[in-house]
Amino acid sequence: MFNFPEELNFLNSAKQPILKTSLDTFEKTIVLTGATSGIGYVTATELAKMHAHLILVARDPLKAAKVKAECLNLGASSVECVIADLSVVSQAKTCAQTILTLSSHIDVLIHNAGMHSTKRRLTSEGHEVVFALNHYAPLILTHLLMPALHPSSHVLLINSEGHRFNGLNMNDLTWKKRVYTGLRSYGASKTAQLLCMIEMNQRLVDTGIVINAMHPGDVKTHIGQNNGTLYRLFSKLLIQPTLKDPHQSAQAIIAIITTPSLASHRNAFYHYTTLEVCAKHARNEAKAQALYTLSCEICDIQPLSKIE
Ligand SMILES: NC(=O)c1ccc[n+]([C@@H]2O[C@H](COP(=O)([O-])OP(=O)(O)OC[C@H]3O[C@@H](n4cnc5c(N)ncnc54)[C@H](OP(=O)(O)O)[C@@H]3O)[C@@H](O)[C@H]2O)c1
Repeated sequence: MFNFPEELNFLNSAKQPILKTSLDTFEKTIVLTGATSGIGYVTATELAKMHAHLILVARDPLKAAKVKAECLNLGASSVECVIADLSVVSQAKTCAQTILTLSSHIDVLIHNAGMHSTKRRLTSEGHEVVFALNHYAPLILTHLLMPALHPSSHVLLINSEGHRFNGLNMNDLTWKKRVYTGLRSYGASKTAQLLCMIEMNQRLVDTGIVINAMHPGDVKTHIGQNNGTLYRLFSKLLIQPTLKDPHQSAQAIIAIITTPSLASHRNAFYHYTTLEVCAKHARNEAKAQALYTLSCEICDIQPLSKIE
C-alpha cells in the first residue's frame, strides 16, 4: 500500500474491501432520512429484507408511498413515513415530534438526506439551503429525538470526503459575504456535521449513545441533479461514468450499524467501512464547541448538557 500523506489517505481507503454484515435479520427500529432516492433508497430496501422496523423521512409523499410499499413487500417488519422538507428548520422540528409519536425506542438514526447546489439559494427561513439540509436537519433531529434514543442507540451521519473542500466560515454561514461555490458550500455543510459530531459525542459520553460518520463512496445517484443543464451535462459525461453502484454504500452502512466492532466507536469517520482520519479542519475542538453553540442558537434548540 502506498504511503499517502494523511490528507490523501482516502485514496487508499477507497481501495479497501467493504465489510459486509454477518446478519440475515436486523429487527431494529431505524429512522432513515432521504430514503426515496440513491443511497437512502437502496439502504431502505436492503434493511427491509432484514425485517427492520423502518421510519422513513421523505419530502415527497408519492415517492415515500412507493418506497413504503416496496419495503413492506421485501419483508420490512413495519414501515412508517414522515413527510418533511428537512431544509426548513420548522419542518425538521415537526418531523421529530411526529417520529416521537411513532416510536419511543429508536435503535439507529441515519442522517442520509443531503444535497449539493451550484447556486446559492436561501430557504423561506433565510438559511442557505445546503447548510440547512446537510447540517441543521441532522442536528435538530438528533436533539429532538433524544427522548427515544437509548444507551445502545447509534446515530450515523452520511458525510462525505467532500468535507475536505471546507468552506466553513462561522461569520458567514449563509454565504452573503463570499463568492459561493457548490463544492465549498457542500464542504462547509459536511465539515459542520463533523465538528458538531465531536461536541455532541463529548456531551453524550455518559449516555451510551454514539455518533459516527461515514463517506458512502462515490456512487451513481441523483445528487446534483437539481442543478443547471451545464452541470448535469458535465456530470453525465465526466463524473457519472466513474461512479460506483449505491449498493456498495448500503452494504457499508448496514455493516457499520450491525457490526459491534464498528458501531461501538465514537467520532469515527469511515470511508465505506475503513476507519479514516477526517481533515484537520473538521477535528478542531474549539471550533466544534463554538459552531455547536451557534448552530443550536440559530435552530433554537436546547444544547445537550455539558459534562464537566
Ligand atoms: N452519491 C455520492 O457519490 C455521495 C458521495 C458522498 C456523500 N454522499 C451523501 O450521501 C447522501 C445521500 O445522497 P445520494 O447521493 O443518495 O443523493 P440523492 O440520490 O439525491 O438522494 C438524496 C435524498 O435526500 C432527499 N432530500 C433532498 N432534499 C431534501 C429535503 N429538502 N428534505 C428532505 N429530503 C430531501 C431526496 O429526496 P427526493 O427523492 O425527494 O429528491 C433523496 O431521498 C447525502 O448526504 C450525500 O451528501 C453521496
